[in-house]
Parts: sequence; structure tokens; C-alpha cells
Amino acid sequence: MSKIKILPELLSNKIAAGEVVERPAAVVKELVENSLDAGSSRIVVDVAKGGRSLIRVSDNGTGMGHDDALLALERYATSKIFKDQDLFSINTLGFRGEALPSIAAVSRFNLTTRVASADSGTEIAVEGGKIVNVSEVGAPTGSMVTVRQLFFNTPARRKFLKTTGTEMGHIADMVARIALGHPTVQLRLTHNEKIVKNWSVASGLFDRVVDVLGKDLKNSLHAVEFQNNGISVSGWVSSPRVTRRTSRAIFIYVNGRFVRDRIVQHALFEGYSQRLVKGQFPVAVIFINLPFDAVDVNVHPTKNEVRFARQRDVHEAVRRAVAQTLYEVDLPQWRPSNYTTDRQAAASGGISEAASKEFGIRNAECGKEGLEFGNPHLEPRNAQLETRTPHPAPRNAQLAPRNAQLATRTSQPVPRTPQHAIWDKQGFSSMRVIGQFHNTYIVCESEGGLILIDQHAAHERVLYEQFSTRSTGAPKSAQRLLVPETVELGYREAGVLEKMIAELKDIGLDIEPFGGNTFVVKAVPVLLVGREIKPVLIEIVEKITEIGSAPGFAKALDQSRMVMACHGAIRANQALSGAQIKGLLGQLDGCRNPSHCPHGRPTWIHWDMRSLDKSFKRIV
Ligand SMILES: Nc1ncnc2c1ncn2[C@@H]1O[C@H](COP(=O)(O)OP(=O)(O)OP(=O)(O)O)[C@@H](O)[C@H]1O
Ligand SMILES: [Mg+2]
Repeated sequence: MSKIKILPELLSNKIAAGEVVERPAAVVKELVENSLDAGSSRIVVDVAKGGRSLIRVSDNGTGMGHDDALLALERYATSKIFKDQDLFSINTLGFRGEALPSIAAVSRFNLTTRVASADSGTEIAVEGGKIVNVSEVGAPTGSMVTVRQLFFNTPARRKFLKTTGTEMGHIADMVARIALGHPTVQLRLTHNEKIVKNWSVASGLFDRVVDVLGKDLKNSLHAVEFQNNGISVSGWVSSPRVTRRTSRAIFIYVNGRFVRDRIVQHALFEGYSQRLVKGQFPVAVIFINLPFDAVDVNVHPTKNEVRFARQRDVHEAVRRAVAQTLYEVDLPQWRPSNYTTDRQAAASGGISEAASKEFGIRNAECGKEGLEFGNPHLEPRNAQLETRTPHPAPRNAQLAPRNAQLATRTSQPVPRTPQHAIWDKQGFSSMRVIGQFHNTYIVCESEGGLILIDQHAAHERVLYEQFSTRSTGAPKSAQRLLVPETVELGYREAGVLEKMIAELKDIGLDIEPFGGNTFVVKAVPVLLVGREIKPVLIEIVEKITEIGSAPGFAKALDQSRMVMACHGAIRANQALSGAQIKGLLGQLDGCRNPSHCPHGRPTWIHWDMRSLDKSFKRIV
């Protein structure tokens, strides 16, 4: 007698539930995705006790007829794919045909649904996977799925549920993710009969983004947009000065599906190149759209991961989209705002009362009364960015009204402001230097306010960029040491350094092995003359060991440049002459990324007149 048996369907559904229904939030995800696939424009999610006792998702989508409703509960029953090829061009969120039977296998489940053309609806009750009742009922068009006592028949699973607060947190995050990806759908979430969130139909993607991520981010998010070779990238990324401690505020959508993707996340960080310090994460919402057959969504049972056919192209598109935007927005922005110029004009009597009313200016010095700051004086560039709506995720327009709606909302991208209009590369040296304080920071008067520059970070940036240019010259050129210096390293470190000798020579460090773990340094870049060389070498080796040899020499060399820039740069607590300061400002003007040191720390901070006046209560 054979020992191998085919499992009964009930049991195999329970096993599938183990993968698909990890926790209550997964049930919410599957049900809401079904509602979206059914073209709903309004979805309500009601939860009780963190999803333990109740999860109910109601929608106004197409609904199901009597026979389809029964079929939907069978394993591998789906209306979304029919043939082999369909699997390779999926344009719906669901396609596996296993969510409903899996959920029904581990709960007390009820489906009520009606199609618009039918007089009545169908209600099906299922207990632990067994259909216990089917009846005809009155119901609105659409579907309502009720899941009670999740995991009542799988005690081991139930035990792994966390507190109500934790489970509800996961549910709220899940709904927020879906809300971000579907701005034209109204979504409401309640917990224990109290409204947690009600996302009304947003007037555009950006409104939904601000709604989900918080209004305080409104002025710190910058639009990204890039298209190449059938891959389009759009969305928003935060200014490098607004960061988080985890990756939780990074939202990645591929053809409308929220995914976790290491490639895209890596590309995002590369796009921020040297603008974040270790441990900082940006806020980002990235929509990637590409032909359905260029991405495999059938990678994981929870459908949270994808595989790209052209992985490198996707990486490059995301990196470029982000880098391009940050290059533009992260340049020094201490140009006078309307506020500053109006303020100056008003103070010199050059602005009429009517005009000052119009601008909402109250001049504290003149004691004019009653005029408030009604106008938020947005930088023109910001105002422009806000109206820019990138293309939302276009999914198959015929499939669902929701998608058609999305398509009509796509606005034409507003052309970017050419970066030189913002930054004429005269920003730093055109400022009046007030002085240096604590021998660490340089204080300057900008046209629009006050700026502090971290002299070490700024000089580090300058040197790093000089080291990185191809041209041979100043700091990079090697100078022979009169007395070559010997340096002894540990066994492991010596091995690492040995492999880098040729590359380091290119950036001015001439090192030769001297037997065992000892090396002789014969020449150093001009920049490092007079500095202790051993700590530089040790740090270079440490950094290279840290990144491993995998990323290749380019990265290791880059790390070496950073170390040398850091060691060669002006220190904190170092007095500078006026001429040295001027020289530094001029060099900063020539930098590609003058706003951050190579480790990602900011090189300057700026207070505009408005915020200073506010702090001194000259204005409200
Ligand atoms: N809210 C709904 N409105 C209309 N039809 C629905 C709804 N929910 C499910 N269906 C129908 O039931 C079928 C089965 O749903 P189920 O979620 O089990 O599978 P799927 O969505 O096709 O694939 P997946 O398992 O990947 O989610 C769907 O293909 C769809 O036709
Ligand atoms: Mg589904």
C-alpha cells in the first residue's frame, strides 16, 4: 500500500493559509486588493480587537453572481488569469486564486455579494473552510467579506498574534500603503467602531501622499520623474535634511503594487549619494511603471516581491530619477524670498500700504497694525513642484473604472526649472563674511538671512571633489617624502592594502611592501604633506575591509578619497584668516554637491529673515 496520499482540500487550504494569512493585516490586504481588482471606488475596512474578532471589507465594486461566489471559495479559482501566458503579464493585484479559500479555512467567514444586473445577492457562510449555508439575500451592488475569529481552528497561529495595538498598527500601515497607491479610491478604516482614518478621494497623487505621510512634509518632498526604455519612474523624495531612522517611510510601487525591493531601495540610496549619514533613511514614494511582461510578480505567496527582467535598467532609472532631483533641490537656497525683499522695501518706505496689505506684511518697526502674514511666501520653485503631478501608476485601463479615472488625472509634467536659475555658482563667495566663531564655524550674511558653515565639512567636500576629478593637479599630485615612513599593519590589514597599492598610487599615495606586514610610504598627495600618515593608512584599510572586496576597487578607492579628504581638511578649532575663508567659499562654489560632506553631513545651515523675525517675535 502506498504511503503517499494527496491531501484533502480542507487541509491543503489550511496549509496555504499558513503562507498567505500570516496575520490580520494580511487578510485586510487580500480583501482590499480583491475590492480594487473589482473596480471599487469606495472601500470600507472595519476591524475589531486588532482583527482578532472581526475584519470586514465592504466595497462597491462589480460583485459576483451566485455561481461565481461559490467558485471564488474554491482553491485555484480566479477570474484574473486563464492561460499560461497570462501569468507573465499580470495586470491585477491578485492572480493566484487562493486568498479567499485560505482565509475561509482559518476563520468564520461570510461573503455577501451582488452584481448590478441581479435582483438579489448571495450570502455564503463558511466555518473553518466548510460551507455551512448559502442563501439569497438583499444586498447592495458590490461585495462584503466578514472574517470573524481568525485562527479559531489553528491555535498555534493564534498564539503568535501580538497585542491588539501591534496588530492594529500593521493593519493601519497596510491600509495606508494601499491608499498611497490608489488615490482615486475612497478608503475608510475603523477600529472598534471608531474611525481610524478616512481617506477621501484625493484631488491628486500629491494630496494623497501628504494626507498619508503628514502635512509637515509638504514642503520637503520633491518630485522625481524619469523615463527610459519603457521604464518610467515617478514620485517624491524628501530633502536630505528630512530623514527617518528606519526604512518605514519608503514606499515602492511597481505597476501599482506595493513591494519591498532591495534593488529599488539600493538605487534610491545611491540617488541620495553622500547626502545621508549612516543610519538615516529618506522619506520616499516611488512609482515604477513598466510593461507587465517585464516584471514577474509571481515570486512570493504574499505578492510583496517582484523580479525585474531588466534589473540593471530599473536600478539605473531610479537612481537617476532621484539623483537628478536632489542635484537641483539640494543646492544652496539662500536667495532672498519674496518675504525678504518685501521686508526690505517696506522698511525703506518703498512699498505702498496697499501693496503691503496685499503681501500680508506687518512691519513691526513701523508699528503698522492689523496685517497678518496671510500669504505663505513659497519659493517659486516649491510652488511649481507642488503642482507637478507625476504619472500615476497606469494599470490596464479597461480592467476597472478606477484605472480609467487614474488615467484622466495624469497631468502634464511641468518643465523643471533649469538648475542654474536657482544656483548660479556664485552663492558662497558672494556672501559677506561676518567671521569665524569657536574657530569651527564660519558665519556669513546671505541675501536672504544668516548662514553658518561647518569649515571642516565644507573643506572635506572641496578636497573630496578635487580628489575625484580626473584631472591631475594640486592636492592629488604626489610629493615624495624626504624620509620615507614605515608603517606596520596587522596580517589581515596588510593583505587588504597590498591589493590596493596600484590604485592608491593613482591618487597620490605611493606605497611599497617592505616584507611581512610592513609597508614603506614613499610619497603622499600634496594635501597630506605634514600630516601623520599612519592613521590615514589604517583608516583606509579599515574602511576597505568594512565594505569588503565585493563592490570592487571603485568603491574602495572612493572610500580612500574620503579618508584622505577628511585627514587633509581644515579641522574644527582651527583659526582661519579672512583670505582662507574667502578661498574656501570660492572653492565651495565650484563643487558639484556643495551642501554635504562626503559622509553626508550638511556643510551649511541657513536661517531666513522670516524665521529669524518670527523667533524674535517681530512678526507673528
Ligand atoms: N470583492 C470582490 N469583488 C468581486 N469579485 C471578487 C471579490 N473578491 C474576490 N472576487 C472574485 O473571487 C476570485 C477569487 O478571489 P481570490 O482572492 O481567492 O483570488 P484572486 O484574487 O484571483 O488571486 P489571489 O489569491 O492572488 O488573491 C477573484 O478572482 C474574483 O473573481
Ligand atoms: Mg485576491
